[in-house]
Amino acid sequence: MQHAPVEIVPGIHWVGVLNPDLRVFDIIMKTENGTSYNAYLVRGREKTALIETVKHRFKDEFFKTIESLMPMAEIDYLICNHLEPDHSGSVLETLERMPKAKLVVSKNGAGFIKELTNRDLQPMAVGTGDRLDLGGKTLEFITAPFLHWPDTMFTYIPEDAGLFSCDFLGCHYSHEDVFSDLAGDFSFAFEHYFHTIMGPFKEYVLKGLDAIADKPLHFVATSHGPVLRHDIAGYLAKYRAWATPVVAEKSLPVFYVSAYGMTGQLAQAVAEGIQSMGVHSALFDLEGTEINTLVPVVEAAEGFAIGSCTINGDAVKPVWDLLSSLATVKLKGKWAVAFGSYGWSGEAVPMLEDRLKSLKLKIAMPGLRVKFKARPEDLEAARDLGKVLAQKITENSKNVIP
Ligand code: FEO
Repeated sequence: MQHAPVEIVPGIHWVGVLNPDLRVFDIIMKTENGTSYNAYLVRGREKTALIETVKHRFKDEFFKTIESLMPMAEIDYLICNHLEPDHSGSVLETLERMPKAKLVVSKNGAGFIKELTNRDLQPMAVGTGDRLDLGGKTLEFITAPFLHWPDTMFTYIPEDAGLFSCDFLGCHYSHEDVFSDLAGDFSFAFEHYFHTIMGPFKEYVLKGLDAIADKPLHFVATSHGPVLRHDIAGYLAKYRAWATPVVAEKSLPVFYVSAYGMTGQLAQAVAEGIQSMGVHSALFDLEGTEINTLVPVVEAAEGFAIGSCTINGDAVKPVWDLLSSLATVKLKGKWAVAFGSYGWSGEAVPMLEDRLKSLKLKIAMPGLRVKFKARPEDLEAARDLGKVLAQKITENSKNVIP
């Protein structure tokens, strides 16, 4: 959706587009309030730079917005802080309208752009310490890898104390008033975005925060969501808190789905076995549970047990939904076991084990399959399953969760 340019400070305009109707970003990420693809026009006394482009399908609205301020042919630089196609998707068409413009990307981005466009655009590759003088506005580049792509960089303008932070500190949230103090309460979107997009790269988040720690910040112009211009220290503090490793008690949650309560009985016994070893374990019936709320539970745990009944030769959907929601969680090194009651064939447990292995979880012991209703010895075997899982993680009484 086209939106008129918005002046951030004299000489710098937001020239992005809004996509308020979007409900799922990049196939997997839900967003209740759409998103924005933010881009910025920076005009110095001598030179002008466009920072970011937009998703390809919005390029025409984007071009109209820029042209309402100045002819695109007069722009000197196109800065791409990273090259994910939601921002770089219209680079070629943008450069066609800016024949004298030099494309500026990070050193890591220089390789990506050739493969993304199948064109040799001969970009200027920049890194920390490199500068471009526009005349009264200096673009300073700060390499910020894995926030969240390998090629991510920030662009900072010291004269305006403005940071163009790429996806860092952004969120999926569309609002006609593009400033954070006018856009209502978007804190839920800000936190969800951090955990989904930045969560796998927490050590890099801390490095990114350190890289800008000595920079005065009057505004932070992100690639999605509101331009931050109030309580910036508060947003930075949230990122630091969420990214800082915490000392936590060990835990092994037990997830299950049970058609008739028989797998549920096993789940209860597995949790008892874990708890008998002094390890915290909570039971989660996946039926009717919002799966996304369980992602941080898995992230904070040393592993988990997962159980499913078998229906039509398969584990059931909520179990697969959980396992397919863990793409942003570092699972390598965590432990897991599978279990389940079945009636005829019992494929669910071996299928779950295969999936757990492919997710790089370590299998503590072969899964437990019980035909129909568990007998006392089956429940004992389920407790043993929990005990063995707990034994794998009990070398130390505390653990630092990265
Ligand atoms: Fe919004 Fe990483 O692109």
